[in-house]
Amino acid sequence: MGDASLNAVARALIAPGKGILAADESSGTIERRFKSIKVESTEDRRRAYREMLFTTRGAAEFISGVILYDETLRQSASDGRTLVQVLTDQDVIPGIKVDKGTTRLAKSPDELVTEGLDGLRQRLVEYRTLGAKFAKWRAVITIGDGIPTQYCLDVNAQALARYAALCQEEGIVPIVEPEVLMDGPHSLERCYEVTRDTLHTVFDQLYQQRVEFTDLLLKPNMVLSGSEAAEQAPVEAVAEATIACFRETVPAAVPGIVFLSGGQSDEIATAHLDAMNRRGPHPWELSFSYGRALQAPALKAWGGDDANMAAGQAAYLHRAKMNGAARHGRYDAATETKAAV
Ligand code: 13P
Repeated sequence: MGDASLNAVARALIAPGKGILAADESSGTIERRFKSIKVESTEDRRRAYREMLFTTRGAAEFISGVILYDETLRQSASDGRTLVQVLTDQDVIPGIKVDKGTTRLAKSPDELVTEGLDGLRQRLVEYRTLGAKFAKWRAVITIGDGIPTQYCLDVNAQALARYAALCQEEGIVPIVEPEVLMDGPHSLERCYEVTRDTLHTVFDQLYQQRVEFTDLLLKPNMVLSGSEAAEQAPVEAVAEATIACFRETVPAAVPGIVFLSGGQSDEIATAHLDAMNRRGPHPWELSFSYGRALQAPALKAWGGDDANMAAGQAAYLHRAKMNGAARHGRYDAATETKAAV
């Protein structure tokens, strides 16, 4: 039996018409994002950028929760409220990235394993006192010649399950994120096989480590052609393959699947989610937990200059709204061009 309060948080995160903003870029990742707009990554600029996103009027209609990075969980907005308070004042649920990133997997040099289990229980206790209601741990699986190995799937799934069990014990909803990267020239069929094997391994480990399926959310990749494949599978094929893959592997007790965007363009990520929801109902809610696909146009419009705050917020609100529509399978691509004019 699951825990009613954890299940309630998981359900609130996948409320109808809403999804999650992933704004938990690590110091290295946000530096790369800022570099793309020629802005130096200082603590003040990171705070200003995230404050811009979190104070966007109307966004809370489409955004149920935000995943934060450790630094952001401790920062305050210009009006003195903590950024956590800024979110909770709008009934947006704060979450926290708790993994410590990837490192080279021993004895398999082309594969990665995620670190961060040591001391995790104590960190979760602190994060809970700072207001986090849910957490995220990302494992990375690479497709290539002879990889992923089952060894890599096993060690990453074991770590994901240990993290998820600790979260549930400490009263925090775990978002379990095994990301099969889209990088490479592989086919959609190959992505299907790897995603299926990854999810089989992950759910086997979650079960073995006594994790309640009712009290977690899954954050997977979609089943796509590799980003360097000669041909990209069309939206309908992606929707069909992704749903088929999850029907084979994800127990119906899991309340929701919140997709990562993983480098898909913002409009394609929305179109994929929309196409999947049009094919519903499904055993689980299908929602979003996008980073780049929600932020890219806002980051560009802001450009590091607070004078562009309104433009950045308008760009973010627009993407949030489009993805909110995709939650219902009611996204209309024509509304993109109208907004751009
Ligand atoms: P993307 O949507 O940019 O992949 O980011 C989501 C995320 O949280 C990756 O860990």
